[in-house]
Amino acid sequence: MNNETSFEIFLNRHDEEAWSATLATLQRSIHEVDRNATQIWFAFYPLPLFRALEEAEDREKLAQQLLLLGDYELKNQIDTSHRFLYGHRFWPQVKKAVEQYADEWHRVQSAEAGVGCRVSGVGTSTLHPTPNTLHPMSSQTEVYATSLADQILEVAHAVGEQSKIDQALLVGITAVAFMTVQQAGLAAFKRAPGAIAIDRKHAKKSPEQILRERAKDDSQGFFGFLKTVDKQWTVTWDENDDGARYKLREAQDLAWGAASDQSRDWKAIDPRRVEGPIPVECRSASCGTCWVGVLGGAEKLADVGAREGKKIKEFGYIDTAEPKPLIRLACQAQSEGAVSIVIPPWNGQFGKYLRTLKEQNDTSIKITVKSGDVAKAELVQ
Ligand code: FES
Repeated sequence: MNNETSFEIFLNRHDEEAWSATLATLQRSIHEVDRNATQIWFAFYPLPLFRALEEAEDREKLAQQLLLLGDYELKNQIDTSHRFLYGHRFWPQVKKAVEQYADEWHRVQSAEAGVGCRVSGVGTSTLHPTPNTLHPMSSQTEVYATSLADQILEVAHAVGEQSKIDQALLVGITAVAFMTVQQAGLAAFKRAPGAIAIDRKHAKKSPEQILRERAKDDSQGFFGFLKTVDKQWTVTWDENDDGARYKLREAQDLAWGAASDQSRDWKAIDPRRVEGPIPVECRSASCGTCWVGVLGGAEKLADVGAREGKKIKEFGYIDTAEPKPLIRLACQAQSEGAVSIVIPPWNGQFGKYLRTLKEQNDTSIKITVKSGDVAKAELVQ
């Protein structure tokens, strides 16, 4: 990126590990309604993939190599990528506050040449952009993470104070805004209109109402306890659209159930949607097209099987041994209850490529450190 502001330079110092540590720090400050949603959003827009594409000699060629399909670029969806977060309702305020924070950061950095100081911020509140100061006893990742988390909390607090909104509802969406600046750039971020992408009826729902809806299960009738009854479960694939639901029969996976929903011209909405709302191709955990995030009811899905676990890591979506993670392959996940999911606007196979890239970078750091040139090693890192 050319002509980066000091805020962007600061953000760009944060790699995947620093952001993971930041999210871990923020997790307890995020309202329950957005705890899963925030994690899912960060899985949908992985920083290492963004960086690999940025640094590629031929971006289009790399995108083809990684079989990227759909819209994987945050810069095209600055106002909409986070529509499934409850905090999306407060996007106009959060976006404006982050812009002001970035401007103040830049002004302070220019004036004070790297010394943190108090500055006026959003409305009547006060923001304090505080440039990093490395503690000698802390690792670089830890220090960056603490500092970034503090700054996200500071912006969320300022918006909460000014708009009289519970800060816990703002932390996730503020973290999303920071990452969006990092990936889309501050100029593009500012150019986005900053509008809300859900209707008034859904915007009015309380977090408790949404949590109640997620926890609700379908009644299977008076004889529902009998094994012979064909049980059906509701899958909600967009909490902000009353028509975005389909029924899943017992033993069906999420993608199978979705295929019977012929209520819309799916291909016209997204060419990857060849049948039903969930994009599918192979239906056998080979292509990675059908990945989804689970906003509510992850515990009702069957445990990740050996093949799903292996392939989802290879695709690059998640790397976890958790039996019921928040990211699943819809063609593999069967449910025993109602669930709420969110469908990402893209898919690809990039896990192996990014791992190889990371190993190469780690090796180059080791070789440089071995030669005793520490400064150079930090630069490569
Ligand atoms: S449809 Fe190919 S992995 Fe699920």
